[in-house]
This record gives sequence, C-alpha cells and structure tokens, in this order.
Amino acid sequence: MDKFPNEFLFGVTTSSFQIEGAWNEDGKGENIWDRLTHTRSDLIRDGTNADISCDYYHKFKEDIKIIKELRLSAYKFSISWSRILPNGNINYINEAGIIYYNEVIDEILKNNIIPMVTLYHYDLPQKLQDIGGWCNPLLVDYFADYAKLMFKLFGDKVKWWTTFNEPSEMIFGYNECRYAPYLSLECFDADYIIAHNVVKAHAKAYRIYDREFRSKQQGKVSIILCGFNFKPKTDSQEDKDAEIRARQFTLGWFAHPIYSEQGDYPYVMRELIDTKSKNEGKMKSKLPQFTTEEIDEIKGSFDYFALNHYSSAVVSNNKMNCKTEHTYRDADVFVEFGDWPPTAAHWCKFAPWGIKEQICWIKNEYNNPPIYVTENGCGDLGDINDVKRIQFLKSYLEEVLKAINEHKCNVIGYNIWTLLDAFEWCNGFRHKYGIVSVDFNSCNRERKLKLSASFVKSLCETRSIPKEKY
Ligand code: BG6
Repeated sequence: MDKFPNEFLFGVTTSSFQIEGAWNEDGKGENIWDRLTHTRSDLIRDGTNADISCDYYHKFKEDIKIIKELRLSAYKFSISWSRILPNGNINYINEAGIIYYNEVIDEILKNNIIPMVTLYHYDLPQKLQDIGGWCNPLLVDYFADYAKLMFKLFGDKVKWWTTFNEPSEMIFGYNECRYAPYLSLECFDADYIIAHNVVKAHAKAYRIYDREFRSKQQGKVSIILCGFNFKPKTDSQEDKDAEIRARQFTLGWFAHPIYSEQGDYPYVMRELIDTKSKNEGKMKSKLPQFTTEEIDEIKGSFDYFALNHYSSAVVSNNKMNCKTEHTYRDADVFVEFGDWPPTAAHWCKFAPWGIKEQICWIKNEYNNPPIYVTENGCGDLGDINDVKRIQFLKSYLEEVLKAINEHKCNVIGYNIWTLLDAFEWCNGFRHKYGIVSVDFNSCNRERKLKLSASFVKSLCETRSIPKEKY
C-alpha cells in the first residue's frame, strides 16, 4: 500500500521562542532564552537573538494561510509560558497573552486545521529560573497550575496537548551547557533531579486533565520524547549491551516511568546508577525514587506516544570512560554520530531507516501505543531549491510507511520540523529547517515557499509519497 491510512494526520511543528519575536511586547515576561541571548551572545553561533525572529507574533495569519495552502491538516505550536504568566505563577495573568493565543487558535480552526499545543518548549520564565529552575521541586506545582489554566482557557478548542518538548535535551542546559540557562550543575546530579521533577510535572498536569477536563473536552495529552536510534558499533555482546543502555538512558529515562508497567526508571539505569552511587560513597542513589503515590500518578499518564525523531548514532561500550558530547552520564557508552551522509547539524545524519527502527522499538518496548511523529526534518544552510530536504523527508516517510504496513506499528501522524526558517538555539539563524524561507534582512520578514513546500503539498493532497525524482 502506497497510501497513508485515511485518518493519518500530516502536520507541521513550530515553537514559540524560535519564531514569535515580540520578546517584550504586550506584557510578556522575560524567559531564560531571552536572558541568555541578551547576556551571552558569544554562545550563539552567529551572535543573534530572537527578539524579532520571524515576527510570527504579528504575522501568524499569513503563516497559517500557508499551512492551509499546503493542505496540511495539523499545526503544532508551543505557548510561551511567560507571555501568559510573566512571573511564571498564576498570581498575575497577562490578559494580552490570552487574547493573542485565542486569536492564533481561532485562526487555525477557521482554516480547518487541527491545533496541537505544546506547553513547554525550553522557554522557562526567567523568574522561575531565579528560584533554581527545574532543579526546584516547586516547579512541579507551578507547571501544573500553568497547564491547568491552559486546559481551562483553550481546552474547548484544543484537543491535542503535549506537556514538555524533549526533556532529555533541556537538561543539556544544566550540564553540557548547550542550552539556556547555561549552567554546569552536573556535580549536584542536577540532570537526574530535573528529569525527576519534569516527569512529575508532566504526570500532575495529565491527572489534572483527567480529573477536571477530560470528560467535557475529550482531548489527548502526551509528552514529547526523543533520542537517537542507536546502532551497536560491532556485533560484540558488549556493544549490543551498550546499545540497550544508550536507548534506556535517553528515551527510556522518560518513557519507562510513563509507559512501562513498573512506573519507574528503566531497570538498567536503576541498577547501574544505584551501584555507582554506592561506590562513590553517596548516602543515597543519584537517581531519585518515586513514591508509591507518584508512581500511581505517573504510570499510564499518556494518550499517545509523541516522538521527535531526527537521526541514528553508533554506540559502543565505553571501556576507556572517554567523554564525548553524548556520553550519557553513568551509561558507560561511547557515542559517535556515524558515517551516514551529513545534514547541516553535526549530530543529524541522513539515516532514514532509523525512524522505522525506533518506532518498532517503542512498539515492542511499550506495548504498541499509538505513535505520533511530532517532529522530523533536517537543516541546511538556506537553499530555496532544497532538494536535499525533499530527499530527507521522502526517505524518512517511506520508512514510516513501512513501519505501518510491514511492522503493524500504530503510527497516527507525522509533523515536519518545521514551517519557517527560525532561530535554531545556539546555531542562531545559521541552520535552516523550514519548508518556507524568511528574509531576516527585510523589515517585514518576507516569506517564500521552498521547493520542499510543493513536495509537502503533493504529499498531503495524494496522501502518498510523491513519486517525482528530486
Ligand atoms: C529539535 C527541537 O529537537 O531539534 C527543535 O525540538 C530544534 O526546537 C530542532 O529546532 C533542531 O535542532 P538544532 O539543535 O539543530 O537547532
């Protein structure tokens, strides 16, 4: 079968900080990325910031029209927490923020597109960072209050929710320093503490939806997880074991508590980290414990599996204990990005089969949940005739189709990252992922459809992968 199932959704994903601009307009509070780009421009590859970015804050109607023209049926965007709650807590609500997102959602619905909302895509209100950010367990409640407000205000219109985008990546901001808040807290085991707080915050928001909104609003809630599809470097048992550890210390770290029967971190993580903690003379394990009540709340807190997939990586047993960019603390693995054809980002290789393998892995590991690919795409340096992007999307989509047809995986949708060329975190505007280009040198940030936009339109119209050669 060449066609995607009738109910399969094709969509596009964006995130607030990367495209909105209007960083201090209409009462928006400062967030950690505003702070980082304004104080440490040396950390951003081209020294830029996202104060204006695509100016989507003012131009969203034009962009939603493009989504409609391309016949995409879903649009996933994130809400800027500090635009709604400038201080991060519900003691002060910025009405202008609510008006703005209501307008955005209404415009999406008016164009017969399904709105999908992410509550948190890396842009923590700075005021909450000032009290320790995600290291502070109080943030579990602050996030739950914010989520509840969003369900209450927009839940009549929004039926697809995700709480966090890629929590494993946001942790880099606390130990590997690639993201805001750009701290180095590894020695305090901040990574494990943050993950613990994020899983609890997700589950708390999910249960609030269950108790107070689900029966009336009938929506779905999930958390967006990611991780490389790992390949063992050799056939040796050591490297095969390293592959398991790499998967469990990344995707499994967050997925296992939520999707497995145990409701705890993966067994291999628990065993290894508990032992290491003992050997390091710690009073208790670096990997925190959930209480029984927490496990009850966390286990099963999903309506579908939201997966961001980009690339595969090669993993081997880390005998020498070498440090690499993706060592994964305590996992004893050595990660290399593989010899597959490159994209603009050094970590993202052209390895289409990986998406099928990862989907199959999730199917087998977590009892066949519905899987929505919430992000997939590749970066380049800004080619309007972006043939490479088309080849990338095409070959990854072919593998998604194989996952559905040959492996009977329950894949329900696929969103492209991303609609517009945008602020790509520490790469600034250097890397472009959009199917639509933005002229960042012009005041009105003119949009221009790339060749990949026509590929996407044809995909959506025919519900099958366009046959043309690119
Ligand atoms: C995804 C993030 O993982 O990767 C996006 O959700 C990001 O926000 C994309 O833009 C590309 O990442 P990078 O590091 O190349 O900018």
